[in-house]
Amino acid sequence: MTAPATSTDPRTGVEVRWADPTVLAGRLDLLDDTDLAELEAHSLPARRAGFVAGRVLTKLLLAEVTGRAADAVRIRRHCGLCGSADHGKPYPAEPDALPLSLSHAPGIVLVAVGGPGPLGVDVTEVAATAFEGFERVALTPEERTGNWRHHERARYWSRKEAALKATGVGLSIDPRDVGATRPDRPPAVRHWPLGIPVEDLHLVDLDLPADFRACVAVQHPGPRPQVRCRAWSGSPDSTPPGSSLIRSDTAENSDIGQAMMNSDQITDNRHE
Ligand SMILES: CC(C)(COP(=O)(O)OP(=O)(O)OC[C@H]1O[C@@H](n2cnc3c(N)ncnc32)[C@H](O)[C@@H]1OP(=O)(O)O)[C@@H](O)C(=O)NCCC(=O)NCCS
Repeated sequence: MTAPATSTDPRTGVEVRWADPTVLAGRLDLLDDTDLAELEAHSLPARRAGFVAGRVLTKLLLAEVTGRAADAVRIRRHCGLCGSADHGKPYPAEPDALPLSLSHAPGIVLVAVGGPGPLGVDVTEVAATAFEGFERVALTPEERTGNWRHHERARYWSRKEAALKATGVGLSIDPRDVGATRPDRPPAVRHWPLGIPVEDLHLVDLDLPADFRACVAVQHPGPRPQVRCRAWSGSPDSTPPGSSLIRSDTAENSDIGQAMMNSDQITDNRHE
């Protein structure tokens, strides 16, 4: 075991990383038998690539914050609704498991680990909200009174889905029953049909490339935890974080590649 590479205490602060999935595709060696069996169940190429990237980035980030070897990290699932281990919220199968959540959108994978309570993250492609009827399926009647642009719709959605993913119930709760703050106001859930007080839910909007909106939610009855969000800059070959993993034939030439080289966001309870 080596010393953790991050300065944030993973029991109190949340570490968030995002990456272009193609950059992580070569690390199939990090998948264990359970991961490989789940991968086999996915047939769509994009879903397979997203699943691999999610598992790989999760293991690399957990290795970074705990000092464990990435290939020793085991990720399992638990469905809080039916108890199944075949689907539901992922968690690290360690005695001292840190909170964990991940999300995919076309061209990006986002992972959050650590913090003082259950975590949820969501990344939403702005273009994915550009359909007629978005308001009808996603917003409360009060929220529908605004004339929201696509990036504002994506902001609403990412806040709601992050909050629902933190609890593990996901979209089994209708997002039209979850009231979030306006996209131009600090992120929070105003009301929802769950027994968890909305005051115990801390939301932080994440800075990602312009095509996306993203949010992390932490369920915790205390002060807002620090959240550090940055592009994944460790090597897929496990060289020390800080060395670039951006390959010239993939992310380097894309908008995501440029943003990966520039982004670092730290948000804590002073940013209210
Ligand atoms: C989880 C859910 C919100 C994902 O929505 P999405 O926008 O398609 O996908 P995202 O990329 O943002 O998130 C997917 C990730 O969420 C995680 N996830 C899956 N189920 C989850 C849950 N119940 N709670 C929190 N996170 C969950 C997984 O890590 C998944 O990625 P992976 O399969 O590659 O590991 C949605 O599929 C859902 O609500 N599922 C549960 C529905 C349910 O509970 N049904 C009853 C079953 S008995």
